[in-house]
Amino acid sequence: MKTGKDIRQDFISFFKEKDHRFVRSSPVVPIDDPTLLFTNAGMNQFKPIFLGQEAPKQKRAVNSQKCIRVSGKHNDLEEVGVDNYHHTFFEMLGNWSFGDYYKAEAIEWAWELLTGVWGLDKRRLWATVHDSDDEAAQLWTQVTDIPAHQVLRFGDKENFWEMGETGPCGPCSEIHYYDGPDISRMKAEGVNAGPEYKELWNLVFIQNRRLENGALEDLPAKHVDTGAGLERIVAVIQGQTSNYATDLFIPLIEHVAQLTGVPYDDSQGVAHRVLADHIRMLAFSLADGALPGNEGRGYVVRRILRRAARFGRQLGQLEPFIYRLVPTLVDIMGEAYPELGEKRQFIAKVIKAEESAFGETLDRGLELFGDITSGLQAGDTLSGDEAFKLYDTYGFPLDLTELMARERGITVDQRGFDKAMAAQKKRARGGGKGGGKKAQRDWTTVTKGRDSVFRGHETTQHKAVIRKYRLLEDQAVEVILDQTPFYAEAGGQIGDTGTLTASGLLLQVMDTQKLVVDGHEVIVHECELRKGDMENHQAVHAKVNQERRQAIRLNHTATHLMHQALKVVLGDHIQQAGSLVAPDRLRFDLTHYEKLTSDEIERIETMVNQVIRENQAVDTKVMGFDEARESGAVALFGEKYGDEVRVVDVPGFSKELCGGTHVERTGDIGAFKITAESSLAAGVRRIEAVTGAGVFKYYRTLVSELDSKAEKQRDRIKQLERQLRAASKAQSADLGETIAAEAQMIEGVRFVARSVEIGDVDQLKDLAAEIKHKLKSAVVTLGTVLDGKPLVVVAVTDDLKERVPAGKFVKELGRLMGGGGGGTSIMATAGGKDPAKLEASLNAVADKLKIMLTER
Ligand code: SER
Repeated sequence: MKTGKDIRQDFISFFKEKDHRFVRSSPVVPIDDPTLLFTNAGMNQFKPIFLGQEAPKQKRAVNSQKCIRVSGKHNDLEEVGVDNYHHTFFEMLGNWSFGDYYKAEAIEWAWELLTGVWGLDKRRLWATVHDSDDEAAQLWTQVTDIPAHQVLRFGDKENFWEMGETGPCGPCSEIHYYDGPDISRMKAEGVNAGPEYKELWNLVFIQNRRLENGALEDLPAKHVDTGAGLERIVAVIQGQTSNYATDLFIPLIEHVAQLTGVPYDDSQGVAHRVLADHIRMLAFSLADGALPGNEGRGYVVRRILRRAARFGRQLGQLEPFIYRLVPTLVDIMGEAYPELGEKRQFIAKVIKAEESAFGETLDRGLELFGDITSGLQAGDTLSGDEAFKLYDTYGFPLDLTELMARERGITVDQRGFDKAMAAQKKRARGGGKGGGKKAQRDWTTVTKGRDSVFRGHETTQHKAVIRKYRLLEDQAVEVILDQTPFYAEAGGQIGDTGTLTASGLLLQVMDTQKLVVDGHEVIVHECELRKGDMENHQAVHAKVNQERRQAIRLNHTATHLMHQALKVVLGDHIQQAGSLVAPDRLRFDLTHYEKLTSDEIERIETMVNQVIRENQAVDTKVMGFDEARESGAVALFGEKYGDEVRVVDVPGFSKELCGGTHVERTGDIGAFKITAESSLAAGVRRIEAVTGAGVFKYYRTLVSELDSKAEKQRDRIKQLERQLRAASKAQSADLGETIAAEAQMIEGVRFVARSVEIGDVDQLKDLAAEIKHKLKSAVVTLGTVLDGKPLVVVAVTDDLKERVPAGKFVKELGRLMGGGGGGTSIMATAGGKDPAKLEASLNAVADKLKIMLTER
């Protein structure tokens, strides 16, 4: 039996023999096309050729392309796993003519390969053509031996293929295969209608381009773009009605059964099929640089993973296990797509981390879902608020909730969900000032004409005329102007603040936002009325808070510089996953799997600061989108761009499509410092940074924090010293007791002579005084070595100070140590040079004392 691998190779060899050049599959993450989240057809990488923007390297091409269809125009997600022939990830075999052969060859060769090389039953094959395409209909019976009644006509929905909302398109001719058990029951009405009639191959005759305004335009040349689903063809050739029963899937299905202990059953194996399908989508998108996240492509990856995890729960899996399927997938497909094997560890690691993270809330979410649907029956609707709660609190993507609801015949109020989501976004954005205050009010039209012309790239103040306003509660007013220097929040940059004034009128602009009013986008100044009222005013002076705007500009240009530095330092997988450009800081979320090391952070800072010091002129130009992309400008995924775009260029370093406000020269930024780095979600890091005066502020705060830390430490040291002194006092009281008890007598006078270990001379004196008091009548001599020098203290009680004056006595001891000494008659000290002499000096005390006492 032919394997999946053989069949893939058959296709490629067949067309190579017909002068087609083999082209490698492009990544599932499109490098250059912001209109697409994932590569969804083999022709994606040839789009510029079809549109006449690029010359083909060859007239004919063949490949097998990794495709993902889970979002956008071509989206099979609902069917996946429920049936046995739709997938989130699949391989599309394709052959192309770039202005070379056309319909006749495309049809003839497809038929030759299907029926000649692969020997499919001609009676089971159906061809469809577009209603209007007489040429293709005729060609089918001319260049092949398909029976005429097996050629059918359909309208645009079935037989006009378009890549997306815009782009290359044209009429197509599809080939379907009836795989039902009883050929006598096969009928024309089943085509495009029943699951037994599978579309195997689509031959698109690309001749048009769909424009943004919906119109169709003729392309300069005519092309052929075909796509055949490998998985379905393999199923047909291997005599299976399910793609999952082919060698492309069997090992995965078996592995799922083995890991979960639940055997696969064709009629009830949705969970097995979903897992076998989703692991392919996950592994290939991760291999090509996508990462789970909260927006755009990252969110699609996350959604698929969460769906898979939920089906894992149905098979009793409470711990991460999906990642264990990766090696099996590498066995099946690693040869055709080496990137899979190369990144197998990374892929497994990411999947496992996501599984663990979601696992924590999955059960509670499932429980909540059970509760809220327990009272519902088939045909009922789950409220948007409940679906939103599942999303917001338990991380359930809407399509997961919908899928679970669908399993029970319940629908989900999607609009309610969208509303709840929009309300939350507004809350998040508006903080205290939004929300309830914004009871919907009507707009009052003051003047008519074009509005919201943005002047903020040239100036921060401008004369303006009020077009519309509406009063909200608490002196809140929203104002639309004919033209304005105020920047409305977009692309991460927050809205401007400032004032709108006229004689007798003061409006404090608290924020600026874009809003759709009467079907078109306007700039709304969200104001507080501070003086006057709105009536009788038309002309105002609009003035942006310039200092704040300037700080924002620094942070915005710095954001671009950091974006590029991140790419250089961390690698090309870095995507901007979100950003905030505020006056006091900038925040940047990026797709990256590991914590940034301090070395990486330092390199990023150094690179950005270097570009700042180079003081490059920042060039901003408005140009066509395609021209901008050709010039290498980076477009952000998830952003919508019009035909005209603004390109912000720091020559030789960074080039991005951006509508925001930027500095004139990089030197204006002054300085750049990263202040925080953290994890936002699995695979997404968040960086915060400051620029300009913010850097000095940051360091000032840092220094004063250090100062207060140091002060605290000084206080602590003092406190410890006090404690130490108290402790040593207590200790010396004990020591005094011991030494006093050792006192000796000479000539009827009590005396002490010994060495002690002690911290300083004061402590030594204190100790001597203490012993003296204890003994009431005595000559106390204590010695110690301090800082390598001998030291002696003599303390004498009052009754003996005449007979043994301490100052005089100590001098004699000092001499014995090679030094001098002195003091009063009751307390004196002597120091010496040689610590070894201390002993001798103390030993001499008794004799010296005797002499002094008896001399009299
Ligand atoms: N682009 C067409 C499709 O995706 C043919 O490959 O169906």
